[in-house]
Amino acid sequence: MAMAAILAMLVTCVAMISLPMILGAVFESGDGNGVKDNPSLSANSGGSLGITKSDSANQKVWRAGEGASPGSGTSTGSFTPATGSGGGRAGAAAGGLSEGFYGSSCPQVETIIEQQLRVILQADIGQAAGILRIMFHDCFVQGCDASLLLVRPTTEQTATPNNASIRASSLRALDTIKAAIEAVCPGVVSCADTIVLSTKIAVKLSGGPIIPMRTGRRDGLSAASNQTVVNNIPPPTLNITALKQNFQNQGLDSRDLVALSGGHTIGRAHCRFVDPQITPTISTDLNTAFALNLSRICLPANNSIKARQTTHLDFITQNLFDNSYFQNVLSKVAIFHTDAALTNASDTLQLVQLYAQNQPLFFQQFSQSMIKMSQLNILTGQQGEIRKKCTTPNQYLNA
Ligand code: HEM
Ligand SMILES: *[C@@H]1O[C@H](CO)[C@@H](O)[C@H](O)[C@H]1NC(C)=O
Ligand SMILES: *[C@@H]1O[C@H](CO)[C@@H](O)[C@H](O)[C@H]1NC(C)=O
Ligand SMILES: *[C@@H]1O[C@H](CO)[C@@H](O)[C@H](O)[C@H]1NC(C)=O
Ligand SMILES: *[C@@H]1O[C@H](CO)[C@@H](O)[C@H](O)[C@H]1NC(C)=O
Ligand SMILES: *[C@@H]1O[C@H](CO)[C@@H](O)[C@H](O)[C@H]1NC(C)=O
Ligand SMILES: *[C@@H]1O[C@H](CO)[C@@H](O)[C@H](O)[C@H]1NC(C)=O
Repeated sequence: MAMAAILAMLVTCVAMISLPMILGAVFESGDGNGVKDNPSLSANSGGSLGITKSDSANQKVWRAGEGASPGSGTSTGSFTPATGSGGGRAGAAAGGLSEGFYGSSCPQVETIIEQQLRVILQADIGQAAGILRIMFHDCFVQGCDASLLLVRPTTEQTATPNNASIRASSLRALDTIKAAIEAVCPGVVSCADTIVLSTKIAVKLSGGPIIPMRTGRRDGLSAASNQTVVNNIPPPTLNITALKQNFQNQGLDSRDLVALSGGHTIGRAHCRFVDPQITPTISTDLNTAFALNLSRICLPANNSIKARQTTHLDFITQNLFDNSYFQNVLSKVAIFHTDAALTNASDTLQLVQLYAQNQPLFFQQFSQSMIKMSQLNILTGQQGEIRKKCTTPNQYLNA
């Protein structure tokens, strides 16, 4: 990555633009879609499709780099990518999945999803981040069973880690995508696979790697309780020991933890998650000038739109899936305590340093770790069901 060039651009452009843009304040409307960043989609010369976006901060076009496909990374030192067949809960489950699971039953499924996502991301590029996070919060809580999409008879959308945080608009986007699939292949493609494939394509269209996801997941019949969600989704205040333990509980190791944390290269954070980093005192996690910028966005406390106000997670290339997250962590301009905590153990610190320098290697490990996450506690074969509507188990439809 031409980090120096990007910084030079930012410095050059800083004088020309207005303060709120520099600060990256995102004022939400409705359920909290961020500022529209006027993205445009185009094919890159590598053959995969990438986002070419007009960066709202500087109006420069950042194009997804080459080498975006997995396997192109150069392995450095002892850090070879962890394979998808990890231990613990992630391991055995891979058995029920296959490549081309929908090869004869719905060969168009990925094309349908991509068509839908192009429209969705054109209108709001923030949906890529929203969908990626939905996959994380679905898979970490009773497995990748699309339970997070259920709204009845019970829901996990209002559980503390999800409520007013998981984007309602992204949940609706997945319903729209599922409806488009149902129109062509009724009763065939699960909501769980819809989440995973939509995430795959959203990451690709944002400039990230093309992740070879297997399919064949089936949908859960019920939502998890608030307590189950709380027990499994890591809060952003954890230290490195607790963070590693949280991932280990899912069968995910330090390499998975570091690579998957790279998901914070896109998207937003609500001020309520930023506040503990800047008040009552500025956390040592943060560069002081950056913390003051965050304070200007998130304080004073009684700002009337505060509950809905957000900041970017990556202030350099907020909508581009790249490795700048790791540069941010090293520069102390990443948002959460958990991001900074990755520098507090020698194994995770070395990986952060590696990915900050080597985007292909990050992409390769991110792909492997996403595959691992996509196989947590999945339902396959005759388990669960293929939901017709993602919000509702089939037995409650028309009831
Ligand atoms: C390592 C532990 C993690 C913690 C503590 C954490 C915490 C958070 C928090 C607090 C937010 C802000 C949510 C809000 O303000 O509404 C957030 C956003 C986000 N996280 Fe994480 N996260 C973690 C791991 C992950 C993983 C594994 C992924 C995916 C691979 C991910 C992807 C995202 C994305 C894309 C957003 C932005 C969502 C949006 O813009 O709607 N995070 N995360
Ligand atoms: C979810 O968030 C909304 C908006 O902040 C709030 O009004 C509601 O009480 C919350 N629900 C739960 C169950 O926490
Ligand atoms: C969820 O559980 C947490 C932790 O026990 C609790 O603080 C919160 O009030 C609960 N929220 C709901 C909606 O039950
Ligand atoms: C990390 O957090 C856990 C849980 O809060 C705590 O028990 C432990 O002492 C902390 N470890 C360090 C090194 O601060
Ligand atoms: C803070 O914002 C100013 C503009 O007000 C910008 O020039 C500067 O680069 C930002 N600093 C950091 C560390 O983000
Ligand atoms: C914010 O609101 C609370 C409750 O209404 C009030 O007690 C406090 O003085 C207000 N703080 C500021 C800075 O306005
Ligand atoms: C890292 O460790 C130091 C020393 O134990 C501690 O003061 C600091 O809060 C830790 N930082 C993070 C982000 O965990």
